[in-house]
Amino acid sequence: MSDRLTDLAIPVIAIDGPSASGKGTVAALVARELGFHYLDSGAIYRVTAHAAQRAGIALDDEDALARLARGLDLRFDGTEVWLAGEPAGDAIRTEQAGRAASRIAALPAVRAALLQLQRDFRRPPGLVTDGRDMGSVVFPDARLKVFLTASAEERANRRYKQLIEKGFDANLAALLQDLRERDARDAARALAPLRQAADAMLLDTTDLAIDEAVQRVVAAYRKAA
Ligand code: CDP
Repeated sequence: MSDRLTDLAIPVIAIDGPSASGKGTVAALVARELGFHYLDSGAIYRVTAHAAQRAGIALDDEDALARLARGLDLRFDGTEVWLAGEPAGDAIRTEQAGRAASRIAALPAVRAALLQLQRDFRRPPGLVTDGRDMGSVVFPDARLKVFLTASAEERANRRYKQLIEKGFDANLAALLQDLRERDARDAARALAPLRQAADAMLLDTTDLAIDEAVQRVVAAYRKAA
């Protein structure tokens, strides 16, 4: 664990938003452009749910899940996540894994257990991170907060293309319904619900190419820095 005061001088760009809004892609590219580290916080929830399923822990057993989360042996290598010395691979990228992540993410003890683990990714020269509560809970002092969204139809299209590219089966109508359910669950939960923070810049990418979204975030950061 690092020193809090030193940490506060390290800039963070927090990009939050709903499922399949493109925030992960945008965040990773912004990090690359600025030479910052990148944290995909959703992957932490995904890998926790995956580890729980492998260990036979029920997805509503809050105490056991929190214990598991506290002891997770996680490492990131680019976009690959390593769990206990093994790459988690595409197993955590399926829709089923996303649903499982969303279920355990609604449990307060699990979120609390994963808080410090996420904060430990704040290292010089800076961090770009994406999720649901990066700006509101994990890094409330982020230099720039962005709420990145797109229409549900556009997000379903993007997720569809992403899954097909990875060689998974996908059904557009089912994806749209699943996204809506996930949005509703993420927005309705008592702790760290999905919503635009008062101090976050809204970026609607429905009609925006990835590069344009990246440039808008970088420009806003340079203005704020
Ligand atoms: O790609 P997608 O947005 O669907 O998923 P993700 O960002 O990988 O996150 C998977 C699930 O983890 C989400 O549905 C959220 O419920 C949860 N999550 C969260 O609660 N808080 C975060 N900071 C990141 C993800």
